Amino acid sequence: MKNTAVTFQEMKQKGEKISMLTCYDYSTAKLMEAAGINAVLVGDSLGNTMLGYPDTLSVTMEDMITYGAAVARGCSDTLVVVDMPFMSYQVSVEQALINAGRLMKEGRGGAVKLEGGATVCPQIEAMAKAGIPVMAHIGLTPQSINALGGNKVQGKTQNAAKKLLEDAYAVQEAGAFSVVLECIPAPLAEFVSKAIRIPTIGIGGGNGCDGQILVYQDMLGMFTDFVPKFVKQFGNIGELMTKAFKDYDAEVKASTFPDEEHSFKMTDPDMLVALKDELRPEEAAGGEVDPEYLARLY
Ligand code: KIV
Repeated sequence: MKNTAVTFQEMKQKGEKISMLTCYDYSTAKLMEAAGINAVLVGDSLGNTMLGYPDTLSVTMEDMITYGAAVARGCSDTLVVVDMPFMSYQVSVEQALINAGRLMKEGRGGAVKLEGGATVCPQIEAMAKAGIPVMAHIGLTPQSINALGGNKVQGKTQNAAKKLLEDAYAVQEAGAFSVVLECIPAPLAEFVSKAIRIPTIGIGGGNGCDGQILVYQDMLGMFTDFVPKFVKQFGNIGELMTKAFKDYDAEVKASTFPDEEHSFKMTDPDMLVALKDELRPEEAAGGEVDPEYLARLY
């Protein structure tokens, strides 16, 4: 059955945990779907993991559309949520709606995600009314890194915790089908999860959330520029990749790859003998065709 925003609601009602991972390409999307991951997020974290920026601020609508459509082609049953990049929804409700529509039409998302609480509720409301499922994102919101003063745990004071709860109520009221809780103390994330109807998806929010998400390069040990405390490495694919790259490099340099198994045979080897008459020695490196090679042809 195809996973949709509705599936999320049903899973929360049944007390089933929701698994999500970020995803940015077709091949990985297919692997995640085969593994039974409930939904994938084409996160603007691709600015860090795929494009090498120090933050997510430079990611464009075109980036999100290209990566979103690639992931969507790899998912037949898995819900694909596409992130709205920085400044694609903050300026006006109208612009937010147009851009959310593009992420659905051109990026092939089944839902969009945007960062912020009460301040972005007019946008959420307009999208929900237009039939666009919206995932909200509160707590640490990386697009506001300059306003927040860095990647810090949020909701630590009484006032901040109250604001977080109010934001969760606000996005639910505005029509969000789910909300990401990033980098907040685990007991607060559990409290918020119990307080609202829509499922919460935690990243650095502890075990009391209704679901979890991680950046896939983080959980596979492929991205080591910075490793947040909440990341568990479920495999060290980065190490496996480096070893494979080294082995390849060594085999190419030792001329042991490609071997016969990985090469194509010629139907008639004598063809090359006939082709010898066509050689132009002055075109070869060093002005002559390697005599040892020519001798081997006979
Ligand atoms: O962009 C992203 O990957 C995200 C997740 C960390 C929730 O927003």
